[in-house]
Amino acid sequence: MAASRKPIISGNWKMHKNHFEAIQAVQKLHYRLDGDDHDSVIVTVHPPFTDLRSIQTLIEADRMKIELGAQNCHWEDQGAFTGEVAPPMLAKLDVAYVIVGHSERRQFFGETDETVNLKVKAVGRAGMTPIMCCGESLEQREAGDAESWVEGQIVAGLAGLGGDAVGTLVIAYEPIWAIGTGRTATSEDAQAMCAHIRSVVRSNFGDDAAAKVRIQYGGSVKPGNIAELMSQADIDGALVGGASLDPDGFAAIVQYRNH
Ligand code: PGA
Repeated sequence: MAASRKPIISGNWKMHKNHFEAIQAVQKLHYRLDGDDHDSVIVTVHPPFTDLRSIQTLIEADRMKIELGAQNCHWEDQGAFTGEVAPPMLAKLDVAYVIVGHSERRQFFGETDETVNLKVKAVGRAGMTPIMCCGESLEQREAGDAESWVEGQIVAGLAGLGGDAVGTLVIAYEPIWAIGTGRTATSEDAQAMCAHIRSVVRSNFGDDAAAKVRIQYGGSVKPGNIAELMSQADIDGALVGGASLDPDGFAAIVQYRNH
């Protein structure tokens, strides 16, 4: 992790925790983290939509430094899109980060590089930061296609953006075979792909964007493997699923510097 990029560790709760459970979890997390932790690491939590208003109120009332995130959104600002949530609605709830193009959305909900690109732009327009996900399947890795696949996702997902915008983004590299499986990429493999992603950003958007863009690793991140992942030059943070549901475990991940 380069000194100029502040690490960012994000908890993706997926479809877990109602708003009562979410309040409890964020309170616990808040008690576990101190000022030093927040000075060193940006901490974001991404609860389900139904929890956002409760967590916004809690963060505001207790002046917590935890940042609020969402897991998805639509790309239009409003309209006849039954069941969808618009980026300005999230911004109004003080949501600061929105996960876009998670592999579960690509796999189960028809998300494509094209819709990911529309969402990345819409999130930015609403003044929030996208966390754009990419990553290959096991078959693609075994066939030696992982790098070209991820490159395609980055180029398509960021199409039409300028270098300044790309420099503010977070990109999450999540190999699909490591998500929820307990099987983490080795820190060398994770570093190699994150370095590749940075070089793709450099050749498409310039040196400045490449130096500034923050790249997270995701896929079975735990208290026991975070420190080694964070010691890699091109890994600036983590997108944590299962292990973020337990506030003690998630706090231990945020406090990787103490391990
Ligand atoms: P996991 O999920 O940490 O449970 O593997 C990561 C993710 O899907 O963001």
